[in-house]
Amino acid sequence: MRKVKSGVYGLNTLMDGGINENTITTVIGSSGAGKTTFATYFLKRGLELGEDAIFITLDETPQQIIKEVIEMGWEDVEDYIDEGALVFVDAGGRQFSDFIKTELAGFVNEWKGYNARIVVDPLTPVLWSVENKYEQRDLVSFLLRELRKIGTVICTLEEHGVMGDLSGAELIIPMYLADNVVHLRYRSHDSPEKRDLKIIKCRSSRHSHFWHPYNIVRGSGLIVQRAKLATDHSKRVVDMTNKLDKMLADLPKEKAAKLTPKIKQSLHRTVETISAEDIGSMDPEYILLQLLLEYELIEE
Ligand SMILES: Nc1ncnc2c1ncn2[C@@H]1O[C@H](COP(=O)(O)OP(=O)(O)OP(=O)(O)O)[C@@H](O)[C@H]1O
Ligand SMILES: [Mg+2]
Repeated sequence: MRKVKSGVYGLNTLMDGGINENTITTVIGSSGAGKTTFATYFLKRGLELGEDAIFITLDETPQQIIKEVIEMGWEDVEDYIDEGALVFVDAGGRQFSDFIKTELAGFVNEWKGYNARIVVDPLTPVLWSVENKYEQRDLVSFLLRELRKIGTVICTLEEHGVMGDLSGAELIIPMYLADNVVHLRYRSHDSPEKRDLKIIKCRSSRHSHFWHPYNIVRGSGLIVQRAKLATDHSKRVVDMTNKLDKMLADLPKEKAAKLTPKIKQSLHRTVETISAEDIGSMDPEYILLQLLLEYELIEE
C-alpha cells in the first residue's frame, strides 16, 4: 500500500512510514488536544504536493477556521483556496445526516479520479444526529466508505468524560470502522500541561505501541517525540534557520533534487515561525531532522 506523509512531524515513523493511502484515520482527543491542528497540517502537506484537500467542517465556519489557521502560522492558506485546491464544505447548521443520505454520493462522483485528502472535523455531531445505534453505524460507515473512494480521510472525535476511557458508544463505532486510530491525550490541568499520543491501531502496518509526548508549535503543528526526553534542551540556543541552511546545503545530489523552491520556502517559513517557548524542552536538532524526514530529504 502506498503511504502518504501525514504532515505531523515525527508521526510517520511511528506508523511504519506514513498513513496508508485511501484509508480512514480517526484522531481522538479532548478539547484543545490538537485535533483540528492535526487535521489542518495533514491537508497542508497534501496541498504542497499538489494534491487536493477537502475540509468538511461541522462545528466552526470555514471563515473561523481560516482565521485560526492563519493566526497559527499557515499564512498562505488562502492562496490554495483561491486556486480551488482547498475546498471547504460547511456542514454545520444543517442536517448533516440528510446531506450524507442525499447529496454525498453526488459529491463523491464529482471528485472521482482526484486523489484528495479529506478531513471531517469533528465527526462526533454526525453520530449525534441520529439516535438509533444501528442507524449511527450505517450512517458513519456509509460516509467513510464514500469518502475513501476519493482519497485519504482523517476524522476527528471529541473525547468526553474520563480521560483515556475509549469505551463510550460514540467512540466505539468510528474506532471500529477506522483503519487507523490515534489518541491524543491532553492533560490541561497539569502544570505544566502535558500532551502525549498513542497509535491505538494502524491496519496493515507495524506501528508504535507507546505513548509519545508531543508539542503544538506555531507554524509546525504537532511535533511528536520518539521517546521521553532524557535531557532538557530548553537552555540551548540554536539558530535554527542557519542550521537548516547548513543541512540543506549538505544534502546529497539525489535528495537536493527534491528540494523545490516551494518546499524550501515552506521549510524556511516553518523554522522562522518556531519559537523557543513553543518547543519547550524539545531538541531543536530533532525538530529539524523531523522536518527533513517529512519532506523525504533524508532517510530514516
Ligand atoms: N496551527 C497551530 N499551531 C500551533 N498551535 C496551535 C495551532 N492551532 C491551534 N493551536 C493551539 O493548540 C491548541 C489545540 O488546538 P486545536 O484547535 O487543534 O484543538 P482541538 O483538539 O481541535 O480542540 P476542540 O475539540 O476544542 O476543537 C489550542 O490551544 C491552540 O492555541
Ligand atoms: Mg477542533
